Amino acid sequence: MKSRHLTLLITLCVAMNSVTRIAHGKSIETSSRPTLKLDVHPTSWKNAEISKLLKKGKVISMCPMKEHLHSCGKKANFDGEVYFVELDNGLKGVFKSLPKDDLGDAYAEVAAYQASVDLGFPNVPPTVMTEIKGMKGSLQLFVETNVDALDSRIYKSAIQEADAEDVANLQLFYFIFGQWDSGPHNILVLKDQEKTHLIAIDNSGVRNHQRVTYGTLPFVRVCYSDKLQANDWGKPFPFEQAKTIENPTTEKLRKTFGDKLPDSFYQSFKSYGLPFRYVIHQNSLWRQYHAGDEKFMVSHTKHLSDQARKKLEGLNLTKLKKIFAVAKNADFLIPSYFEAILDRRDQVLLYFKEQKRALNK
Ligand SMILES: Nc1ncnc2c1ncn2[C@@H]1O[C@H](COP(=O)(O)OP(=O)(O)OP(=O)(O)O)[C@@H](O)[C@H]1O
Ligand SMILES: [Mg+2]
Repeated sequence: MKSRHLTLLITLCVAMNSVTRIAHGKSIETSSRPTLKLDVHPTSWKNAEISKLLKKGKVISMCPMKEHLHSCGKKANFDGEVYFVELDNGLKGVFKSLPKDDLGDAYAEVAAYQASVDLGFPNVPPTVMTEIKGMKGSLQLFVETNVDALDSRIYKSAIQEADAEDVANLQLFYFIFGQWDSGPHNILVLKDQEKTHLIAIDNSGVRNHQRVTYGTLPFVRVCYSDKLQANDWGKPFPFEQAKTIENPTTEKLRKTFGDKLPDSFYQSFKSYGLPFRYVIHQNSLWRQYHAGDEKFMVSHTKHLSDQARKKLEGLNLTKLKKIFAVAKNADFLIPSYFEAILDRRDQVLLYFKEQKRALNK
């Protein structure tokens, strides 16, 4: 067994001694648990045993993730209802609770993990659907990290230190599967004796329909409204017609779109301190998040390993349906969703074919 694996195994065994756990200020249970010998290092995440244990384990403690992060001296930067949980089998997890009538984000997280298993990249912690105390959502293996990616210096140096191939594969995954909400807030950095591992968390963005050309930022479908009357069915996505609203506020947006967009859009609008760049197409509003953010890293790479190329070439509708099996009744899973993933894959393969041709000239 490699030394890095041993370190993790020891950590896990220590965490499994008899303890009294406190959740929301209340002691829930005292238990003595058997030692579980399970390797939870990223190189073992393909092991379906981890997912089984995440599903089967009983929750013995649960606390809001922000509390947990602060107690470890880490920063917190997220909006959702996220909990740190401990299971009676020794595993620790991240539970993201969602409204029962919209579990799309959780399905997307599970599918992102399945995609990583199929492709062999990037590192996505094992993720399953679950129900805890009557709440439904996703449960992901909690990854103990020794540094905080929200510290911008650490994030930048981690990207430099990580294998170039891993970074390239991460970008390919982000682009093809449509994880547009990338960046330091959704990356964990794990350093061990062998290397720096980049871990892709919070992959719910893959559920969003989007249109993009390789090397640019995607336009993400935000909302649909019959009132937009775009009248452009069957027409290509009009990238060239993108418009920008500088210093956007809800008032400015209301002036532009009025009642053509639903109230829910205005209520949940956030500017993130950036211009609002958008396209109207097929009665939907498509937003180019991160437009105008100089620091944002576009999901693009000039490196494609033979292994990654073979995996991407092997992607097809049957495989995608298997990857997204968990989401088979979700509203986002319509034929054009799969077509868009395969289109992005084709764009990538074409880009590298042309690059090779240019080099051989
Ligand atoms: N698998 C994991 N292992 C360790 N920590 C995690 C894991 N998943 C999430 N976290 C921690 O919990 C925080 C919140 O998780 P996450 O980003 O998935 O939530 P979110 O509410 O969907 O985020 P956002 O506001 O970006 O949409 C992360 O920033 C990270 O600190
Ligand atoms: Mg997040």
